[in-house]
Amino acid sequence: MSGTDIRIFSGRDKLGETLAGEMIRFAQAAAREQRPASIALSGGSTPKILFNQVARVAPQEKVNWEYLHFFWGDERCVPPDDSESNYKMAREYLLDHIRVPDSNIHRVHGEADPPGEAVRYAAEIDRIVKKKLGGFPRFDWIFLGMGADGHTASLFPGADTLNVRDQICTPAVHPGSGQRRISLTLPVINRAARISFLVVGEKKQERVAEILEKKSGYEKYPAGRVAPVEGVLEWCLDSEAAGKLRSSEG
Ligand code: 6PG
Repeated sequence: MSGTDIRIFSGRDKLGETLAGEMIRFAQAAAREQRPASIALSGGSTPKILFNQVARVAPQEKVNWEYLHFFWGDERCVPPDDSESNYKMAREYLLDHIRVPDSNIHRVHGEADPPGEAVRYAAEIDRIVKKKLGGFPRFDWIFLGMGADGHTASLFPGADTLNVRDQICTPAVHPGSGQRRISLTLPVINRAARISFLVVGEKKQERVAEILEKKSGYEKYPAGRVAPVEGVLEWCLDSEAAGKLRSSEG
């Protein structure tokens, strides 16, 4: 993809360490300039490789997190103490290890009724994320993961949610499990200043290659529809996830 940074790391630890350093510097710059900044975390298991490294390094770096506001790119519609909750995972691996004010943590109320929560969460985002682009909140940084089916956040292949053009958030449903979700929409994702995919593991390498090499039909994958209107898109991959990329062969 033109304008896409493809960053291939030798392993998950190196990827996590590097992005952790960048997140810490991002927080420190916001504090130094005394300007609030917004970050949307992704869910699933991959972010743990980043969160672990931030939690390990941040205490000795004495990071001031008070200008950084944390949101989620998507959430499962479960209570915050449920093992499926992306918020719970972020709490355990990241937020409980850094000194961030509770008022800076903007979780999706997974326990609430999804359509009503999508409206409430959108209003919270719109209130806190002051920067706008094309009438949508402009996050400073959005992290995304990708499923082997090419979904990202809770935007799944073929879902109507991919066509939502006038909302910040949308209720969604996982096509396999039927689990109800809340997700940021593509218009919001694509208006972030920086979008970072974190994708690791061999089982994702086919999809990564299809999308990054724009193979026929790549746009049917939600992850293939992530293209910043005015910002930076980077795919941070370990060598396994990058295994089928032409540029990484031999
Ligand atoms: C979620 C996600 C989802 C995730 C991908 C990859 O709530 O599950 O946000 O989009 O990023 O499914 O998940 P893994 O990192 O577990 O492979």
